[in-house]
Order: sequence, then C-alpha cells, then structure tokens
Amino acid sequence: MIELIEVTKLYKGQMVPAVDNLSLKVEKGETCVFVGSSGCGKSTTLRMINRMIEPSSGTILIDNKAVKENDPDKLRMSIGYVIQQIGLLPHRTVAENISIVPRLHGWPKEKIKQRVDQLLNLIGLDPEVTRNKYPSQLSGGQMQRVGVARAMAVDPPIMLMDEPFGAVDPIARNYLQDEFLRLQQVMKKTICFVTHDINEAIKMGDKIAIFDQGKLVQYGTPQEILSKPANDFVSDFIGYDRVVKKLSLFQVKVLTRRQRCFLSESELTNLWQKIKDEEAEVCFLVDADGHSTGFVTREELARQVTTSVDTESLEKIRQIALSRREAFVRDTTLLRDALSLMLELDTEYLGVWESGKLAGMITLGDIRKHSCGKGGE
Ligand SMILES: Nc1ncnc2c1ncn2[C@@H]1O[C@H](COP(=O)(O)OP(=O)(O)OP(=O)(O)O)[C@@H](O)[C@H]1O
Ligand SMILES: [Mg+2]
Repeated sequence: MIELIEVTKLYKGQMVPAVDNLSLKVEKGETCVFVGSSGCGKSTTLRMINRMIEPSSGTILIDNKAVKENDPDKLRMSIGYVIQQIGLLPHRTVAENISIVPRLHGWPKEKIKQRVDQLLNLIGLDPEVTRNKYPSQLSGGQMQRVGVARAMAVDPPIMLMDEPFGAVDPIARNYLQDEFLRLQQVMKKTICFVTHDINEAIKMGDKIAIFDQGKLVQYGTPQEILSKPANDFVSDFIGYDRVVKKLSLFQVKVLTRRQRCFLSESELTNLWQKIKDEEAEVCFLVDADGHSTGFVTREELARQVTTSVDTESLEKIRQIALSRREAFVRDTTLLRDALSLMLELDTEYLGVWESGKLAGMITLGDIRKHSCGKGGE
C-alpha cells in the first residue's frame, strides 16, 4: 500500500509548488492512474515515491513505513520504475538494460538470461532478434517495451510507470494495455501509472487521480469520475462523450435479458404461440442445422400481428428476424461497442452469445437507462 500525506514539492527557484498538499492512498494490488495536463506534477509525484526526488514537506508511506526511513538505493531496487523518456542506457544491449536490477540483486547469470528472454516474450519482442540489439537499433515503441520489461525484471510488488505506452502507435498501445491488464489480474501489483490520456486512465485504472496544477482535483474509480465529475475542469478533461466512455466500463453481460426461446424457420406460424407459452420477450430463429439466423421480439410481433397471422405479416416477421443475422454480440463485449453495433445495424436489439451458446438479448432501452445512471453509480 502506498500512502501520500499532505505532500508538497516546491522546486528550487520556483514560485508555485509542482505538487501541492497531496494526500492519496493506493491500496495493495490496485492500479492508480495519475492523469492531467502537461506540467501538473504527475512525474514529480511518482519520483517522490521512490525518492528520486525528496518532497519539501509531507510524508510518503509504503506498507505503513515512511520511505525516508529506507535506504534510497535499496528502495529503488525494490520498486519497478518505467521512466517517462524510456531512459535505456545507449551503450548497453537490450539484454543488459533489462538485467540491470537483477544484477544488482546478485542473480546468477543463467537465471538472468532466462528472465530476459521470458520478459522479451512477454512484451511481444522476439528474444533471438532483440536481445543483442542496442537501443538506437529499436523503434520508439520497442524501446518503450524494453523499458517496461526492465521495470518488471525482478518482479517487484510495486511499479511506478510514467507514460509507459506513450511512444507506441494506437494499435500497439491497445495490445500492450490489454496484455498488461491480463498480467495484472495475475500479478496483482500495486501500480502508480501516469498518462495524459483519459481513455488510457479509464481503461487501466482501478482508481484515477486527476491533477490540475499540482493539486489533486478528484480521486475515485473510473465509474465515480465519469458519473460525477467534481468540477468543470474534470468534465472538460473527460470530454463531451462522458456517457459513451462510461459505457466502456461495462460488459454486455450486466444487461443481458436471459431468454432461450428457439423456433425453427419452418415453424414460423407457431411463433406467437411459442412466445406466449414460454413467456419470452424474444425468440431466436434457427435453421435446419440448428444455427441461429436472427431473432424477433415479442414487441415486434405484437406490432405486426394484430388480428390473425396471415402470410403477409409472417413474411414481415421473417424479414425482421433475418435482417438480424449480424446482430449478435458476446456477453463480454463492452456496452459501448454493443451500442455502436446497434447504431450501425439500425436495430434496438442484439442477441447475446455466452460461452458459445445463445443466452438472450440486450436492448437499446436498457443501455440508455444504464448510461443515465441506473446500475452505474
Ligand atoms: N527539476 C526541476 N526543477 C524545477 N522545476 C521542475 C523540475 N522538474 C519539474 N519541474 C516543474 O514542475 C512542474 C511539474 O512537472 P512534472 O514533470 O511533475 O509534470 P508532469 O505532470 O509529469 O508533466 P508531463 O505530462 O509533461 O510529463 C512543471 O511546472 C515543471 O516545469
Ligand atoms: Mg511527466
């Protein structure tokens, strides 16, 4: 656990503090993302935690022990640090750069070699190709990955990551974020992660700390921050698409209306009866091979079939159902992406797959209610 208590940093010769009376707690195993405009004090805060910089006043605790009571070198060896400007040593190979801290810890050569290769694989670089290269022979994104590998080398329980994916293109960045999230589910490290990208903060953070000119303006879960921005600065920082961003925090499964009513296409005349008998809101049509070809909702049926089921209305129903061939998502799809698909296909309903089986549907109405706060605050 990392705790900052009324921490202030006033650099020599500066009139205003870079970090101003900052108090914040990062729980064990949590990722806290520091976000804010350039110069708001994110890197300074990070560097005070591992004593690269000493605060002017205030206290920083790690596991309830003041960091200033630790030997700074030992402290830094026990904390992974990804430097904002990557900071690889130019005259050392990739392998040598990654093994700096393991060597300080006195690891045997063979163990270091294995760990280097393991880490290179982990960050998506081929050890054979990369390990003996020099930083100047790498792209900015590759250097950045090596910087992350170096910070993870001795598997430290705490990681300080200063814009670790800032220099990679959006596709590689997305991939690295996903990989890192996947790893973190297992590693459960305590992480302070700096970014100036609010989307990255929302994706990576258990908690988000929003800074403005050295001051903490809001601290909370992504959901809290998106639901109740503390002030205009935070609202502006989040952007106009606050509601859509909030939808990126939830998966379809939170809104799935569970229904498993099926009918083969050839039995379409029985649709009304079937939906009534099973008290279903939706019925999936299946072809001769048992594959779903679309679906129709009870509401749509009620609209089409007023008095009797004639051929014309049956055909309309069939057309509605078949127009939904593509209208399916997985239960793990983000609500934001489900909404996007609804808009693209011009439908208010999507079928939901769960572990390879049809589980039910999700409706536009439910997404709308959810985004307005229900279930989200
Ligand atoms: N060594 C230093 N001496 C004097 N002022 C400094 C020093 N380092 C940083 N500052 C100032 O402190 C403030 C905070 O800097 P810091 O590097 O913490 O910002 P940041 O939020 O990390 O910004 P960025 O997003 O650009 O990396 C800035 O105004 C900066 O100019
Ligand atoms: Mg910085």
